[in-house]
Amino acid sequence: MIISPSVLSLDFCKINEQTEQLNRSKAEWLHFDVMDGHFVPNLTFGPDILKAFRRLSNLFLDVHIMVSNPLFFSDVFIDAGAEMITFHYEACKDNEECLMIAKHIHDRGIKAGISIKPNTDVSVLKDILGTFDLVLVMSVEPGFGGQSFMMNAIDKIKTLRTMIDDNHYNTLIQVDGGINQETATLCKDAGVDVLVAGSYVFKNDIEKAVESLC
Ligand code: DX5
Ligand code: ZN
Repeated sequence: MIISPSVLSLDFCKINEQTEQLNRSKAEWLHFDVMDGHFVPNLTFGPDILKAFRRLSNLFLDVHIMVSNPLFFSDVFIDAGAEMITFHYEACKDNEECLMIAKHIHDRGIKAGISIKPNTDVSVLKDILGTFDLVLVMSVEPGFGGQSFMMNAIDKIKTLRTMIDDNHYNTLIQVDGGINQETATLCKDAGVDVLVAGSYVFKNDIEKAVESLC
């Protein structure tokens, strides 16, 4: 199981200390939430903060952009060191736009992910899923850490597992929002590959919390 701690919940007064703890933990990825104050009602990090994490850590930089203009912000964060950009299906006007952005990200040499919000059905992805390296199932409304896990994510993960396996795609399934030891187990049983966890990791002993999710 790949664990991707969300630095949205990191204590930025302790950025060195907590990033060192992540480096020592079993986490392989670092999840970086970009919010533009438009696609979601919150504002988070710009590219210079991602560059700081690049210098502090060798973890794989998993960048989740909750923005209305994914093409523009993909370039901004690829320039800053992103190794994967995951953008929202809901931010695109149609499948062609999703595929065009995925191609742009791939042409720049990194991985591309597509995310769906809790009210978006997985069936919308059926014609484009195979193009993506990752599909992100949001198990809370995007915008804030610390919310409760929405159970409808479990059926979405199961459906995606079947779609991916039946078609022999290489797409990883990631889940984000309200992950703790209990919800992680439900997601694993449903067939998830990557767990994002914010509050659970940073409000506990970081290394032990990551280990408990593996
Ligand atoms: C929410 C973000 C999540 C968030 C998860 O919009 O995409 O990555 O940090 O936080 P927790 O684990 O606290 O629900
Ligand atoms: Zn996220």
